[in-house]
This record gives sequence, structure tokens and C-alpha cells, in this order.
Amino acid sequence: MWTRKQLLLLFCCIGGIGGFFYRFLNMDYLDKYIPTTFNVFQQPNINHYIESVVQLNFSLFELLKIIDWPEPPSAVNNFYFSTNPQNCDYRLLNPRDTYRVGEFLEVLITARDHKGQPKSYGGDFFQAKLHNTKVRAGVTGQVTDHGNGTYLATFLLPWPGNAKVHIRLIHSSEAVDVLKRKRESDPGKVYFSGYFHYNDSSAVVECNLEVSGNDICKYTDPVSGDTWQCVRPQKMPCSSLVFHSVGGYRKVTNALEDSLLRRSVTDKTIPGSVPPINIQSDQRFSGLISKLPSCRPGQESRQPSGFYYEDTWTSLLCQGRHFPEPSSALNCLRGKDIHMFGDSTLRQWFEYLERFIPSKSFTLCAVNVIVMV
Ligand SMILES: *[C@@H]1O[C@H](CO)[C@@H](O)[C@H](O)[C@H]1NC(C)=O
Ligand SMILES: *[C@@H]1O[C@H](CO)[C@@H](O)[C@H](O)[C@H]1NC(C)=O
Ligand SMILES: *[C@@H]1O[C@H](CO)[C@@H](O)[C@H](O)[C@H]1NC(C)=O
Repeated sequence: MWTRKQLLLLFCCIGGIGGFFYRFLNMDYLDKYIPTTFNVFQQPNINHYIESVVQLNFSLFELLKIIDWPEPPSAVNNFYFSTNPQNCDYRLLNPRDTYRVGEFLEVLITARDHKGQPKSYGGDFFQAKLHNTKVRAGVTGQVTDHGNGTYLATFLLPWPGNAKVHIRLIHSSEAVDVLKRKRESDPGKVYFSGYFHYNDSSAVVECNLEVSGNDICKYTDPVSGDTWQCVRPQKMPCSSLVFHSVGGYRKVTNALEDSLLRRSVTDKTIPGSVPPINIQSDQRFSGLISKLPSCRPGQESRQPSGFYYEDTWTSLLCQGRHFPEPSSALNCLRGKDIHMFGDSTLRQWFEYLERFIPSKSFTLCAVNVIVMV
């Protein structure tokens, strides 16, 4: 079921974190517990991990600014006044007969509720893309919230030929508000299992940022100072905790909140009346791409940061290199330590890399992967 490498990777991750990182939705199989007798606190890679973490430097204020999101003007008390993807639509602004590569396309999205009334405030979470399945091309659009129930989606036109607009409502503003409030008010939605081994006996108890009860074990992450707790198993010292994994979910939503988060209104394509547009080639655009600087760390991002064409990614920030063969990727990576920071999407990239490059070519534990599942 699990290869040694995967186990080791999982172990590195959990040991590296030493705390509880999780996100609220879509926890995946990584969280399944694999019993082990290792002690997370004796994990040899911890120093490696500490070094990499202390180099991170960002302010909380900056992080909060990034995730800032407008709220509905008043508490939602009626499902029918929330945004209904079926009633939203979009149309082309300033339609033209011809478009050229390198130009921008603007689409105006109108949000409506279940009664078909236009929304008067923003905060809906839309995702927009322009794509062409035939040539396997795609680029994301930037969505700007006007704050009055309309949204502007802007698309760069990066390839010649056909392109089709596609817009989805991921969550209504009301659903976003539910998620936001639950994040703040109910930290215990997800609970964890702590595995204790002491002498020949073992026990599984609940762990979390905070647990209730009189007899609890308190832990502190040596790096971040984050704390967490476990219910103390009977007749076992707190130091006999050896592992933890996700235990399960608690229902913290009422019927109205459930309706706002229902599948039928979540991640739905919205109907729009924009026909596929035809884009004419323009040499100036490829000229611009060929003049981009070479890629370096810390480069500022922009929207869009690139696009796919024939399944190949072209960066619009810098001259991205392509590594079609495992050997070319290996040549680039040889002799390097790779630090990958991210969530389970990044883990999938790691697993891809592991499959793509012949397995004997690189050592897993030279790679310090921290997975925030
Ligand atoms: C970390 O950020 C602060 C404030 O932005 C800055 O003054 C400091 O030089 C930074 N430290 C490092 C090591 O980059
Ligand atoms: C919404 O805001 C945009 C940008 O400020 C404005 O152009 C538009 O007319 C407004 N629409 C409505 C329906 O108020
Ligand atoms: C656990 O094992 C140690 C050594 O084997 C022994 O000294 C100790 O009494 C045991 N503790 C308990 C609570 O059984």
C-alpha cells in the first residue's frame, strides 16, 4: 500500500511540522495513519527543518491582506438571497470582430440570487479561464470585484486561434462568509488522533489545538512555539506520544449553512453568452516573450503568470526552461538540495517528480518536504 519512500516522506513531514497544520476542506488520503514505532521528536531531519523555517520572513499583516475578502453587508438568513450560479451570467465588454494575440478581453459577470434578482454587493468567489481543448491551451483570467454584484474578468489572449471563456462560481459570498466565520469560531472542526506507545501497551486519544478535560498533555513545537494538546491516556506519560493523524470531522453547520455549501451551488459553471472568439497571431507577442529576463528566485508574480499551449507551460515572468526528458531535468537538478514548501498540491508535484526522474537518481531525504494537508 505504501512504499518505504512514501512512509519516509510522510514521516519527515510530520516530524518536521511537529504541530498541526491542516486546511478545512478536502483532506486527502495522506492523512491516513500508518502505525510506526518511531518517535517524532527524535527525527534526525529536524535541524534541517529548523534552518529552512527561520529563513522565512513575512509579516502577519501581509498574509492577512492577501486573504482579505469582502463580507456580505448583513448576516445571511435566507438561502434564496444567496448567489445562484444558474442565474448568474456574463457578457463580452466592447465586442470586436478581430482580436490579436497579446490583447486583453474583458467580460462582465453579473451575480444574481435564487429569485433572479441582481446582487447588490460583492464577495462571490468566481474563477475564470480562457481555454481551447483542441490545442490543450489555457490561461486564467483575473476577476475584479466591483463590490456591487458585478465583476470584471480580464483575460490575456496568448495564443492564436480559438479561445472560449469559462467562468465558475466556486462559492457564493454567503458561503464564503460561512467558511470564514466557522474558521474563526470553531477551531475544533477537525480533530486528530494521538498515538501513544508505552512499554508494551498503546492507546489512541484525541488531540487538537485545545482539548477539553482535566488530564491533558500539552506540547509545544520547538520551532514555531505553536502549542497543541492531547487527552492523556491512562497510565501513560505525555512523552509517550509517538505519532498523530487526522481523526475526523465534527459537524458545526446548521441547515441554512449546509444549504449555502451544498454541492448544487458549489463550483458550478455559470451560463454565459460569449461565443468562442478567434485570435489572430501577432509576432510582437512572441518577440516580447523571447526578451523576458531569465528566471531567478524571488521574482515578483503577475497575472497571468503564464499560459498553457499544447500542454506546455510558457511563463510570462521570465524565460522558463522546459525539461521534456527525465535526463534534462536530472541534469538541472544534479547536486542540488530541493526544498518544497506547500500544500498537498505541491506534494503531488513532488510525487510527479519522483515518477518522472529515475528513482535511483536522487535521494529522498536530501529533499525536505513539508506538507500542509
Ligand atoms: C524581515 O522583514 C523585516 C521587515 O519587513 C526586515 O526589516 C528584515 O530585514 C527582514 N529580515 C530578513 C532576514 O530578511
Ligand atoms: C458597479 O460598479 C462598477 C464599477 O464601479 C460600475 O461601473 C457599474 O456601473 C456598477 N454597476 C451597478 C449595477 O451598480
Ligand atoms: C515500563 O518498562 C520499564 C522498563 O522495561 C519498567 O521499569 C517500568 O516499570 C514499566 N512501566 C510501567 C508503568 O509498566
